[in-house]
Amino acid sequence: MSQLNVNIPSAGADRYTIHIGSGLLGSVPAQLEKDFSGLSKFVVTDSNVVAAGHLARLLGKAQVGTYIIDPPGEGSKHIDTVVSIIEAMEKASLGRDTLIIALGGGTVGDIAGFAAAIFKRGVKVAQIPTTTVSQADSSVGGKTGVDSTISKNAYGAFRQPQVVYIDVETLKTLDDRQYRSGLVESVKHALIADDEYFDYLKKNMPAILDRDCDVLEQVAYTNCRIKAAVVAADPTEQNKRRILNFGHTIGHAVESASKFSLLHGEAVAIGIIGAELIAQKMGFAAPDRLKRIQEALSMLSVPLKIPKGLQKEDLFDIIKRDKKAVNQWPKFVLLDKIGHVYFKDGQWAHDVGQQIVDETLDRLYL
Ligand SMILES: NC(=O)c1ccc[n+]([C@@H]2O[C@H](COP(=O)([O-])OP(=O)(O)OC[C@H]3O[C@@H](n4cnc5c(N)ncnc54)[C@H](O)[C@@H]3O)[C@@H](O)[C@H]2O)c1
Ligand SMILES: [Zn+2]
Repeated sequence: MSQLNVNIPSAGADRYTIHIGSGLLGSVPAQLEKDFSGLSKFVVTDSNVVAAGHLARLLGKAQVGTYIIDPPGEGSKHIDTVVSIIEAMEKASLGRDTLIIALGGGTVGDIAGFAAAIFKRGVKVAQIPTTTVSQADSSVGGKTGVDSTISKNAYGAFRQPQVVYIDVETLKTLDDRQYRSGLVESVKHALIADDEYFDYLKKNMPAILDRDCDVLEQVAYTNCRIKAAVVAADPTEQNKRRILNFGHTIGHAVESASKFSLLHGEAVAIGIIGAELIAQKMGFAAPDRLKRIQEALSMLSVPLKIPKGLQKEDLFDIIKRDKKAVNQWPKFVLLDKIGHVYFKDGQWAHDVGQQIVDETLDRLYL
């Protein structure tokens, strides 16, 4: 089992450990009892995670109050679910001395983290991610929230976890499409921060797709190391944290225009190719770079082109409404080489003309 300590320097209390291993789930309650002995524990999970046996593996014989989100997934990531969780905790007479344990994917982590941020003005949360997205990305960094009827993550708060437990064995029950799509965030981490990790991912992709736990532990460790370093440098996204948005500007537009028929990681894969085409156009991409990135993403069998049914005008409209847009046009995170983001004039995200984006979208269609 490996262990990673995360320090968020701007806030003294925000120091936590990420424990990574395979089959560690059953040992978590005893460890939490030891480390958070005075706190009542309350688990938030979802019905797929329960059906896959992970709640039973976590709790064993321990009696812990539990809220099961049903139906699972993005459709339940709204404020009513948070209200129900908070009322369930009140009915269980829980107070400020509560530790919420989020067991599940990114939706469970985001919902439970947000409930923790606002219940009785804030209680502690432990994250136990069970998907490739949440183990690589959402469980670390402290962003929590739920969607409104108008936009994603409209309600939200920063709430760093007290501790994260990553059990890579939980990934064995994850649906294949979800599994592969979530790995796009690992490729993204490699592209923005670590060229050796990029080579490692390519070389070990067969083992990763086989869900080999030893390799998955290494992957989880490297993802968390990269994400934690970026978050520690910029916890509330003033500047450097934007590099995590690589591939997400076009990616979010494609995801949203597809009405979420494309999974997040699938849309981000298209967005990464889009960012690469832009970098090429602006003259700072070595000729073989796009091919190397396409090869890595192709190993995940994710789409690399925009499906024909999506209208370019819709994509443009959504890009203009990007939450990071200023004067109706966002800045773009671009690579200057594999493993490094282009940085100029103190900025990690850059102006790209609408004409270039227009041509890029044309090139991205099937
Ligand atoms: N907070 C952040 O920094 C951050 C970062 C990235 C993504 N997110 C959010 O994360 C969400 C997406 O996360 P996700 O892809 O993990 O989605 P998810 O939580 O909806 O999980 C995907 C599906 O897999 C099921 N599942 C989860 N674990 C399982 C397991 N081990 N075995 C079998 N089934 C399992 C879930 O029930 C669900 O149906 C989005 O809402 C996104 O906005 C947040
Ligand atoms: Zn993402």
